[in-house]
Amino acid sequence: MILVTGGAGFIGSNFVLDWLATHDEPLVNLDKLTYAGNLASLSSLAKDSRHIFVQGDIADGALIASLLEKHQPRAIVHFAAESHVDRSIHGPEAFLQTNIIGTFQLLQSARHFFAGLSGDAAAQFRFLHVSTDEVYGSLAPDAPAFTEHHPYEPNSPYSASKAASDHLVRAWHHTYGLPVLTTNCSNNYGPLQFPEKLIPLMIHRALKGEDLPVYGDGQNVRDWLYVGDHCTAIRCVLEKGNLGETYNIGGRAEMKNLDVVHTLCDLLDELRPKTKGVSYRDQIRFVTDRPGHDRRYAIDSTRIATELEWKPSETFATGLRKTVQWYLDHENWVENVTSGAYRQWTQLNYKEREQDNLVEQK
Ligand code: NAD
Ligand code: TYD
Repeated sequence: MILVTGGAGFIGSNFVLDWLATHDEPLVNLDKLTYAGNLASLSSLAKDSRHIFVQGDIADGALIASLLEKHQPRAIVHFAAESHVDRSIHGPEAFLQTNIIGTFQLLQSARHFFAGLSGDAAAQFRFLHVSTDEVYGSLAPDAPAFTEHHPYEPNSPYSASKAASDHLVRAWHHTYGLPVLTTNCSNNYGPLQFPEKLIPLMIHRALKGEDLPVYGDGQNVRDWLYVGDHCTAIRCVLEKGNLGETYNIGGRAEMKNLDVVHTLCDLLDELRPKTKGVSYRDQIRFVTDRPGHDRRYAIDSTRIATELEWKPSETFATGLRKTVQWYLDHENWVENVTSGAYRQWTQLNYKEREQDNLVEQK
């Protein structure tokens, strides 16, 4: 038995589905079901008794303690977080509450539970904390990619809150001996991602005939990791990682945002063509930049590659094609998650930006 937090979100739901497809071991999935959590992502598990879903908050120490006591998991895999940079700019409090206080409460409960274990159960127990490359800050164009030794220089409320949670995890290992593992990964993409993040947002808006809002000059670089590869990396760290270590996970796919959007438009032109001679690229608009927008992220994943023998199996081209096809095949899922509050968010985030946009010169 393992306990997964945030398993109704994007990466968590992919992890839960992959886990139960490849393991007989059951899991408890604790998720608060914020706007980003969606049980429809897990509907294929409705009759699977190995999936025990609990709606609740990671900051609820009593709930966590009772779940640990009842299910005696051998590991906690901690995905739950507020995860969107633009939302953290509009409303940082929720990020501090969940990412910092929530992680603190989870660590406290895990620590007390671990203290009561002995023998094999104690030796096997793991607390795996899922974090982000954004804690390292922004890279200059020619700077080497982030290693695990790169200094922490978080620039957004989101990355600052994740950095704080990483520090807590480290401290609970050094001070209390909690057997922790931390992973810092690059931007994920793939099926089941909420359409507030770049790739699903662009696919969704392209299909609806809406503007495709590229922030600033579109030259910011992200290192794209297919979510299925991220899930195999987490399983690998869980089974083979050295206690107290951190592992950077990347997709070896550095891309400028504008190139990502162009590639998406070209895939859609092929897979869901508009009328002859009209391209989705015509919908691209440059809009006001994000405040404090990090210019470049890139992951050096040498450690996980050499020490744990993990490497990604998708290239950006193969992963993106699968992703676009998934969104084309699952328009109901998208409709479901974009009803209601989603509209208020896009109004808030894009209204001002769209007022001073420029039509791309092709
Ligand atoms: P997501 O926003 O899609 O999902 C987060 C999930 O956590 C949701 O199901 C939500 O309901 C749940 N949640 C939020 N607050 C909670 C709380 N207080 N208690 C219990 N559950 C709560 O996020 P994601 O993209 O799947 O990211 C998962 C993890 O991976 C996060 O820790 C994030 O920082 C990290 N990460 C994500 C990316 C990425 O590209 N998506 C990259 C690097 C790291
Ligand atoms: P995002 O998916 O929000 O991830 P992160 O900010 O965590 O890297 O954004 C990825 C990149 O895409 C980032 O440089 C901001 C940019 N972006 C846009 O240009 N337009 C958009 O509408 C969004 C959501 C992001």
